[in-house]
Amino acid sequence: MEQLQQALDKRIKTVVQLEQLRQSLIDGKDTGRMAVSVCGGTACLALGAREIATAFKQEIEKREIQVKVEFKETGCQGFCARGPVVLVGPKNIFYQKVKPEDVPEIIEETILKGKIIKRLLYTDPAVKQEITYEADVPFYKKQARLIIGTNSEIDPTDIEQYIALGGYSAAAKALFQMSPEKIVDEITRSGLRGRGGGGFPTGRKWQSCRVAEGDIKYVICNGDEGDPGSYQDGSILGGNPHSVIEGMIIGAYAIGSHEGYIYVRNEYPLAVKHARIAIEQAMDYGLLGDNILGSGFSFKVTINKGGGAFVCGESSALIASLEGKVGEPKAKYVHMAEKGLWDRPSLLNNVKTWANVPLIINKGSAWYSKIGTAGSKGTMVFSLVGKINNSGLVEIPMGVTLRKMIYDIGGGIPGGKKFKAVQAGGPSGGCIPEQYLDTPVDFDELTGLGSMMGSGGMIVMDEDNCIVDVARYFIEFLKGESCGKCVPCREGLAKLSEILTRITRGEGRPEDIETMTDLGEIIHDGALCGLGRSAANPVLSTLRYFKDEYLAHINDKKCPAGVCRELIEYTIDTKKCNGCGVCARNCTTKAISGEKRKAHTINQGLCVKCGVCEDSCKFGAVVKR
Ligand SMILES: Cc1cc2nc3c(=O)[nH]c(=O)nc-3n(C[C@H](O)[C@H](O)[C@H](O)COP(=O)(O)O)c2cc1C
Ligand code: FES
Repeated sequence: MEQLQQALDKRIKTVVQLEQLRQSLIDGKDTGRMAVSVCGGTACLALGAREIATAFKQEIEKREIQVKVEFKETGCQGFCARGPVVLVGPKNIFYQKVKPEDVPEIIEETILKGKIIKRLLYTDPAVKQEITYEADVPFYKKQARLIIGTNSEIDPTDIEQYIALGGYSAAAKALFQMSPEKIVDEITRSGLRGRGGGGFPTGRKWQSCRVAEGDIKYVICNGDEGDPGSYQDGSILGGNPHSVIEGMIIGAYAIGSHEGYIYVRNEYPLAVKHARIAIEQAMDYGLLGDNILGSGFSFKVTINKGGGAFVCGESSALIASLEGKVGEPKAKYVHMAEKGLWDRPSLLNNVKTWANVPLIINKGSAWYSKIGTAGSKGTMVFSLVGKINNSGLVEIPMGVTLRKMIYDIGGGIPGGKKFKAVQAGGPSGGCIPEQYLDTPVDFDELTGLGSMMGSGGMIVMDEDNCIVDVARYFIEFLKGESCGKCVPCREGLAKLSEILTRITRGEGRPEDIETMTDLGEIIHDGALCGLGRSAANPVLSTLRYFKDEYLAHINDKKCPAGVCRELIEYTIDTKKCNGCGVCARNCTTKAISGEKRKAHTINQGLCVKCGVCEDSCKFGAVVKR
């Protein structure tokens, strides 16, 4: 009863009350108070952020300085390669690679005395200079963090922090100042295109669903994100779930829906937990549920956890999964805007698409459409991973070149290695080589290169990656994830995988290239769903740009990158070997022998090519060929 009373007390019944709450939160904020934000994103948590957060809470309590310090644990702050990261406000001093034992010093020196701890600052490798503030770190400075920037500012489990930043004002504007037609018009004019893969114009999709016949309509958020290396959608749902919910409220009002679903994979426990808390809090505050803000409009959201199949991100498979059926795609004769979940009109958008909506409603389509290129408006959030110094979440205005992303923001390739390719668009995207690095990031430009924007996965590869092995890996992944319902995808991917595996084992045949090209086209043309239709991209794009590497494997039985085990050989350079015996002691198959202080040799029959000898030799005497 008491709980119910408390919940009722929190309920905001009018827009005026929402504004009053926002104002009181702003007024009540002591601007002289220091703020500590510990990143609670997945990468930082894996590196010990939970222990750091606990240490901060204990230290603040022990010193009884709660009134001086505001502590919060945020979602992913973006610069995952430098985790665990800690921001000290109000000016956002950026501390990186923080350890729990650094916490008392941060409190004593930075919080209480205002001194900077140089050891914890990020050093810009280009100028070898420490950088104090987050805004000056090149990784952040060159981005436009319209969507993910808020992650660093709020505790995602506290709705009031979102409200204090202007949260739910777009929903209020939409509900009270705009008609559904006007909202759809605004989204259309903004030029927003879906961020889930296809880049379909969002306004057009909303309009089809708005005019579709039916009393019951659904709004769905696609947070499946099954692409290897991608984690931007999970980080937005986990770091700023209210932005997605607010977008869904606006979409629901625009099309006349009263029920929404967030489909998120179960392997994202943080996103599931934070989205669930956000829904509960929005219900408590009257921002979801019946008669939102007294507008007469009612809308509720339910979370549905996916089982982790990549194909369940595809719209028709997602619908089947939501309906409790096996998550398999269907042939789409009718658009789901007309006949989707339980055969009712349904509006499905990606997490990032929804998160863009409040921004467009608040700032206007004219403002939004000035960002980006002619055909791709706004910003795009990427997971920049692989052989890159500054791996993390990157948000850029559309139109920034791949080179700028990889070198200026991503900090280039580790160890001075040579860039080889970037795989954009997830497993069924395509590999883009060095000569196209000056291509602007834009839906159509990336498609023109045989790759795609996809949902924002970007995997960087260097000279040590074998392109045939990379294609084999992605085809193997897609083969495993294919639902198996249609023959071209099921059999075609199995055949492609078999050919690629043979090539990486040195058993390639000259006709393989033509066979793979033909197969790729057949799978594309004949597959039932988007998985199959794009599945051959990793092979077709690598054949287009890296044919020589395939030919080296097939004709010369060589792997230029030195990755494919059957095609490499380790030998010992007798001139460099001093017979120290370290490699022999480390070799688990006892393939290395030789007298003490005399050059050793490797028995090729016993060698399993694990590379331990190369790693353990200090004199560079082990040669990989
Ligand atoms: C195999 C496959 C996997 C997909 N996975 C996702 C996903 O994880 N998230 C997503 O938003 N869209 C995914 N899509 C795209 C969806 O089918 C759909 O187009 C998208 O959710 C629509 O939202 P948008 O218009 O905001 O992009 C996938 C498509 C295919 C073919
Ligand atoms: S998880 Fe902390 S910066 Fe990404």
